Amino acid sequence: MDFESLKNTILWGALSNFGKMIFQPNGIFYWAGRAKKEADVIGTIGSIVGIEDELVNNANNNKVTYYIPAIRDYIDKDPANIVPYAPISGLPTLREHWKNWIVEKGKQAKNLPSGSIDVSGKLSLPAVTPGITNGIFLTTRLFLDPKESIISPNKRWGNYDSIITRQCGVNIDSFEVFTEEMKFNLSSMEDKIRDHINSQGRAVMILNFPNNPTGYVPKKDEAANIVKKLETIANDLRKPISVISDDAYEGYVYNNTGITASLFYELVNKNEYIIPVKLDGASKEMLMYGGRIGFVTLGLNEKWFKSSEKEKVLEEFENKIQGIIRSTVSNSNRIIQSILIQMFESGIEKIIESRKKIIEIVGERYKILNDELAKLSAENTAISVDPNSGGFFLLINLDPKVEATDFNEHLLKNYKTGLIPIVKPKDGINALRVAYSSIPKEQLPILVDNIKKSLSDLNLG
Ligand SMILES: Cc1ncc(COP(=O)(O)O)c(C=O)c1O
Repeated sequence: MDFESLKNTILWGALSNFGKMIFQPNGIFYWAGRAKKEADVIGTIGSIVGIEDELVNNANNNKVTYYIPAIRDYIDKDPANIVPYAPISGLPTLREHWKNWIVEKGKQAKNLPSGSIDVSGKLSLPAVTPGITNGIFLTTRLFLDPKESIISPNKRWGNYDSIITRQCGVNIDSFEVFTEEMKFNLSSMEDKIRDHINSQGRAVMILNFPNNPTGYVPKKDEAANIVKKLETIANDLRKPISVISDDAYEGYVYNNTGITASLFYELVNKNEYIIPVKLDGASKEMLMYGGRIGFVTLGLNEKWFKSSEKEKVLEEFENKIQGIIRSTVSNSNRIIQSILIQMFESGIEKIIESRKKIIEIVGERYKILNDELAKLSAENTAISVDPNSGGFFLLINLDPKVEATDFNEHLLKNYKTGLIPIVKPKDGINALRVAYSSIPKEQLPILVDNIKKSLSDLNLG
């Protein structure tokens, strides 16, 4: 593939050297796909195929991918939905459903700065990856070369450092996410973006709202300011700014202030230099943590190409994604893709309805814990809680006199209470992450009481 159409777009300039080079050759999957449509005798894929009746007595005459018949003892599903390889970038039906799911969430969003947003016709077909974890790896490789830098808030999921820095060799340049007034720190973000464009010729930033570990979600005015700032920088400098939205916890917002859908929606078709990429995961959104299914979706800008070129550009962009998937994980879990298709085919409304109860349960915990901690932090200034509106966590900042790791050790040994300490002195972080999503509400007052006792034991406050 020569990427002639992609080369004519701003997207090309946003890619790393690796991203420009990688491609998926017309290999096994290509010829297998052709043969499936065009051939009678098919000897392409390395799996065992035959007439089902030859394998299982009294089965039918269909050609199937052979399976161990005992699989039927464990799972009540047609093996055809379980055992064959899935296409490199996922089952086409699932990809269509997920695209539609993204569109629906935008339409149903209530409090984005622009109200609800319709992104239909402005999305690539989501590519399936083994979870957002792999989506982060994939987009890092696509947009950045080793020794280049990505921008991220200082408070972030710890695995970013493993995936982006230790795995991909890309530096993470942190910005302080909150101002002293505990608002989103726009100027610190702006400085980094301008800096990176000057030194690297383009900027790549990863944002995650609702955030792990803080639970922070921008308020409507903060979100509007982030978007306005990105537009201003894009108009000033006219260089690609790729914004990767890690939307692992999208939809889990428990108060009326945080935006209820991803910032991604605001960035689609906003400015030709802003390249929005959305990372979604079935892990939290569909409560299928072990299913290992995620999605990478590009938000399109109408100025990137003439409409007659759209399909070609998207095909070329997808070829690059396929090149990365095929050379790392090959393809993603098929049974979970099949289950997701069935869920979508029973109706998006049904999915929304059945998630509602869970969101309410976690929302109740969110409220109880925040109320209890507000009382404690009012009487003891050794702790403060970051602004939080959703997700699965909140973050308690701790007086640096005691390292959070020691505090956690104390909690664990003396009060049988386990949290996650985060200690990053360079970023000014000494804190405890509480995954209240996993604590039944009856235990929340006990947790806060145990924190209170530990503060006193350790002479804090
Ligand atoms: C912010 C964030 N992104 C991504 C992930 C991983 O998602 P997945 O299970 O889809 O790989 C997590 C999981 O903890 C997370 O907190």
